[in-house]
Amino acid sequence: MEIKVVENTKSMESDILVVNMFEEGKTSSDLANQYALEEDGFKGKFGETYLLPTYGKEPFRKVLVLGLGKKEEFNPNKLREAVAKAIKKCMQMEAKKVAFAFDGIEFDYSEQFTMGAFIADYSFDKYKSDGVNERANKKVQEVYVQANPEAVKKAEIIAAAMTFARNLSNEPAQFATPSELAAIACDLGVETKIYDKEECEKMGMGAFLAVGRGSHEEPKFIHMRYQVDNPKKRIAIIGKGICFDSGGLDIKPASSMATMKDDMSGAAAVLGIMSVIRELHPQIEVHGIIAACENMPGSKAYKPGDILTAKNGKTIEVDNTDAEGRLTLADALCYACELGVDEVIDMATLTGACMVALGTQAAGIMGNDEELIKKLIDTADRSGERFWQLPLWEEYFDGLKSEVADMKNSGNRWGGASSAGVFLQKFVKDVKWAHIDIAGTAFLEKPQKELIAGGTGAGVRTLLRYILEQ
Ligand code: BES
Ligand code: MN
Ligand code: ZN
Repeated sequence: MEIKVVENTKSMESDILVVNMFEEGKTSSDLANQYALEEDGFKGKFGETYLLPTYGKEPFRKVLVLGLGKKEEFNPNKLREAVAKAIKKCMQMEAKKVAFAFDGIEFDYSEQFTMGAFIADYSFDKYKSDGVNERANKKVQEVYVQANPEAVKKAEIIAAAMTFARNLSNEPAQFATPSELAAIACDLGVETKIYDKEECEKMGMGAFLAVGRGSHEEPKFIHMRYQVDNPKKRIAIIGKGICFDSGGLDIKPASSMATMKDDMSGAAAVLGIMSVIRELHPQIEVHGIIAACENMPGSKAYKPGDILTAKNGKTIEVDNTDAEGRLTLADALCYACELGVDEVIDMATLTGACMVALGTQAAGIMGNDEELIKKLIDTADRSGERFWQLPLWEEYFDGLKSEVADMKNSGNRWGGASSAGVFLQKFVKDVKWAHIDIAGTAFLEKPQKELIAGGTGAGVRTLLRYILEQ
């Protein structure tokens, strides 16, 4: 799909012209107004559409009236969602060229328009033996819009990063292995260092390596670096990179394991971001860090009761091998803190508890710096994601106290997202830090708003915008 910015979309030859209508309002199309839409019960409710023929009298073959709901409730996020709906509708009708003529929208919609169109255009069908051609036929090829070309260009790049992350999350674990993530990282055109098992051992990453031991797939620690002269700031983003989470010896029941190829969605987001960072050339230094491995119950697997030593020397008693993400992140956080950056932000499909608390609508955010957390929440709101702050009170650590080591990796059943957060905090030193638990938002079992089921690219839009706004 290609978005073309043109002066007058109504004069373009197209299969469908999309015009908007607010609830109880009129459309920008005389043609649509001329027919009494309301007689058919079409009132411009949000997301409703109404199709009209033009009988060959116009350059566009049909008009699709797109309901935008009440004008006073309308905003850029709704616009993105509505555009996605329209594009999906046009795909169903096998339209190839779609023009948009918006009227009465009082903000610059260029960016969210572009995001909505590209998010709707996404499908993951590379493994369908018949699907590729069939679906390609249904794709919209050209979209015409009156918009700000620079904002469209920027959004195209952000959307591409999302697509990159969604593809990786959707990729089966048999292909998206730790070695594969490392190979992908090396191909992104940013300076990349891959540490293998022996090098991680030398660095003292006893927590990360323990998790990977039960799999025959080699663990890989990935460090990507985007540098500029005189950076305004230096940040590190960490993504949880469990390529498959079986639970380990504390094995998951089948129903919980089914989607665990998505347990590297944090890593996918980091790779997606790093894949476009040069093109967006922000004036800050950005480190992308992933401790990639599988959590499997092989004969060398780590066991409940084992005591691990993380990179910062702290010891951890393994209470549950399924609380593996925080172990890999512990070493990644230590590594990131040693870089001397200003901020560390991690994204992780960390706890089912976060999903229970917030559902698939919001990611949980925690950290040691209120200003950073507030900024990220605000950036998410403007980017089409939702972050919701959860507490990090020290009392959550009570359940993680161990008789034999400095801490356990799990304990209390209640407040699981926050206790995972306080665990991570033990590995954060002298840096502003935010932790984003994307367990609920990274992978959808059914469609939600502009997203189809599967990987969502959670974190990509927000973090990229955050990086660009520094
Ligand atoms: N990867 C899971 C968390 C998860 C659950 C992500 C559902 C996406 C959807 C994580 O490694 C995990 O297993 N967490 C356990 C922790 C528990 C053993 C303390 C959980 O949440 O049950
Ligand atoms: Mn787990
Ligand atoms: Zn996990």
